[in-house]
Amino acid sequence: MTKNKARVKIQGTILLQPTPASIERAAQFIRHGGLVAFPTETVYGLGADATNAGAVSRIFYAKGRPADNPLIVHISDPAQLEEVASKVPDRAYKLMEQFWPGPLSLVLPRSANIPETVSAGLDTVAVRMPSHRAALSFLEACAVPVAAPSANYSGRPSPTRAVHVLEDLAGRIEAVLDGGPCAVGVESTVLDLTRGKPVILRPGGITLEELTRSLGEKVNMAAMAIKEAPPLSPGMKYRHYRPRAALILITGETGRSIELIKKLDVYYRASGKVVCLFQEFFSSHAAYGKDLPFLARSLFNKLRYCDSLGADVILVRAIAPRGLGVAVMNRLHKAAFRILRV
Ligand code: TXA
Ligand code: MG
Repeated sequence: MTKNKARVKIQGTILLQPTPASIERAAQFIRHGGLVAFPTETVYGLGADATNAGAVSRIFYAKGRPADNPLIVHISDPAQLEEVASKVPDRAYKLMEQFWPGPLSLVLPRSANIPETVSAGLDTVAVRMPSHRAALSFLEACAVPVAAPSANYSGRPSPTRAVHVLEDLAGRIEAVLDGGPCAVGVESTVLDLTRGKPVILRPGGITLEELTRSLGEKVNMAAMAIKEAPPLSPGMKYRHYRPRAALILITGETGRSIELIKKLDVYYRASGKVVCLFQEFFSSHAAYGKDLPFLARSLFNKLRYCDSLGADVILVRAIAPRGLGVAVMNRLHKAAFRILRV
């Protein structure tokens, strides 16, 4: 009886609590070529056996993901890295020691064990070891490296709760492992170690400052503008994180930005629109550093929440692009329908 109660099925997708028995069940799905969404400290991932090209193709289909956008491979132990990457530079060992398990993905030369579907044809592969306890237990039980993009329908805000995964993917995947809300809330930093100098391809949970300090050398940030070509990382050229509501991002001097937001709020409400304001982004500059982990953690949940309220417009004030603020601003720029500078 209790066993059945612990398992809920939504449109054919099983919602599992992270008990040892359920984790084993979820791992069995992976070993048989199925798709399981699982929690990590950043966002929920949509996992498949990274050594099974057929299973990996199903990820692209379930998410509606462009076939040229490569996936991150997840491991539960640094020793597994040699199954995934053909060469591991000294820099990688240094970073792994400091930041794994944690929100840092390293781009390395791809091993022949990993089919090219995972890397969308590239000869490199992104790898990370997450720190979420349920993720580590699940990955260990899978006993294979697990390819996993964020578990949202392509283009939607990333999922930071099991219910977000179900909103987008119920009926399209075998199971979701519910590990509660994600602690970091923005995705991992993707760092390319296959070039002369380390390059951040996507800002995320580990900051540029932390990487520079750890390596003791300059770390570059790849150009993030969508129109710049050719992108170093295929993921850069796609629109991401879009809520259904039109997100308007206001950047510029504090007083003028707040003035404009107030005017837009009045204007849109007067024309019958449902408006959501991100109040927490209005705090003074001094407060940003302190608030950043909270802003990052709540960002995607808030975007989805605005949609659930039937919002037409979301008004957000830009924050300083420093530390974790770089990742937050990167997501907001991509999510924005319009960016207004004052
Ligand atoms: O925190 C995260 O990284 C989450 C959790 C689930 O681990 N995963 C995630 O995956 O955000 P996804 O697929 O949504 O984003 C992967 C990013 C994309 O921008 C992709 O282009 C880039 O990593 N990427 C993956 N493999 C790459 C490679 N070999 N070379 C360059 N960029 C790569
Ligand atoms: Mg994603």
